[in-house]
Amino acid sequence: MAHYRSVGDVPRKRHTQHRRPDGGLYYEELVGEEGFSSDSSLLYHAGLPSALVDARTWHLPDQETMPNSPLLPRHLRLHDLFDGGAPVDAVTGRRLVLANADVRISYVVAAAASPLYRNAVGDECVYVESGSARVETTFGHLDAAQGDYVVLPRATTHRWLPTGNEPVRLYCIEANSHVAPPKRYLSRYGQLLEHAPYSERDLRAPSAPEVVEQSDVEVYVKHRGRGPGGLAGTVHVVPEHPFDVVGWDGCLYPYAFNISDFEPITGRVHQPPPVHQVFEAHNFVICNFVPRKVDYHPLAVPVPYYHSNVDSDEVMFYVGGDYEARKGSGIGQGSVSLHPGGHSHGPQPGAVERSLGAEFFDELAVMVDTFRPLEFGEGGTACDDGAYAWSWSGRGPAG
Ligand SMILES: [Fe+2]
Repeated sequence: MAHYRSVGDVPRKRHTQHRRPDGGLYYEELVGEEGFSSDSSLLYHAGLPSALVDARTWHLPDQETMPNSPLLPRHLRLHDLFDGGAPVDAVTGRRLVLANADVRISYVVAAAASPLYRNAVGDECVYVESGSARVETTFGHLDAAQGDYVVLPRATTHRWLPTGNEPVRLYCIEANSHVAPPKRYLSRYGQLLEHAPYSERDLRAPSAPEVVEQSDVEVYVKHRGRGPGGLAGTVHVVPEHPFDVVGWDGCLYPYAFNISDFEPITGRVHQPPPVHQVFEAHNFVICNFVPRKVDYHPLAVPVPYYHSNVDSDEVMFYVGGDYEARKGSGIGQGSVSLHPGGHSHGPQPGAVERSLGAEFFDELAVMVDTFRPLEFGEGGTACDDGAYAWSWSGRGPAG
């Protein structure tokens, strides 16, 4: 994100003395990607950002995975995963749905405030399916609501505080890399170009510092390790609250983008999935299908052609509207379909014929396409409907 912002109290020149009202110094911290060779921000802390007073192991939610074997398209009903029970929070309550060595997709229905958390493995892109939350970070807070992607750069200390009367439903896409707008939509210096489906004005970033005075505070850190998925967890106890930043500036910060601000790219005949792309990361992309006018050639077929995208696993999360191509398959709000590489997929029987002459699709879905095959986490296994693979033929192994 090469869009410069300056928030709060920063000195006129970087790396110079920045003094508190009592004459003491603020502590400058550079948060940067790819060593010192990519985007970064400078933060000014009241306390030492490296100070620790204790540490212990954080036993992460179950990260074990099982392969998609035998290879089948799948339908996962995420809304079945949180059916009553004690309220959980948006960090420790996540249930792993799908994962590979590049990305983990978890789901959580959170009613409780999360602990302070930093993902030191990669960026997170959290999609808010419904409900609302305040996301407090070292950079300031973001108010997140239905349809928002909240992009949190690696190692951003933050916490999720549900607001409103309903729990917040979060679809958590955890990269092992950085999440960014597609390169083809960026100028050589990082500005979003005219043909991009969104612009900098659509991105919301913290606008005021978040300062909390509190001592001996726990921060849950997810980091690289030797547990399942190459992960491990640690709880750090820090002497002063991490929200002690009086100002920051730079091009690296958390931000939110609402799916309703994505301007769809349409054509006379069917447009390929890359026109729906919103973000990219290493070895996977994030796309969204939004309500739009559809293909307007007089002989157009508005639903997709069957496709065997041999290099990808395709994960669609249905978050609103009525998805034309999947009618008759049992898929609805809160469903996830997994169409694995190695198997051709496309509209359910009758969907092509029904779509002819359509002018508008009222559908809303978030898609993750991965280059490496995805495996099932315990959450994915727990909500597999077991029948989707047979929905094109109308009969399964039982006859
Ligand atoms: Fe597809």
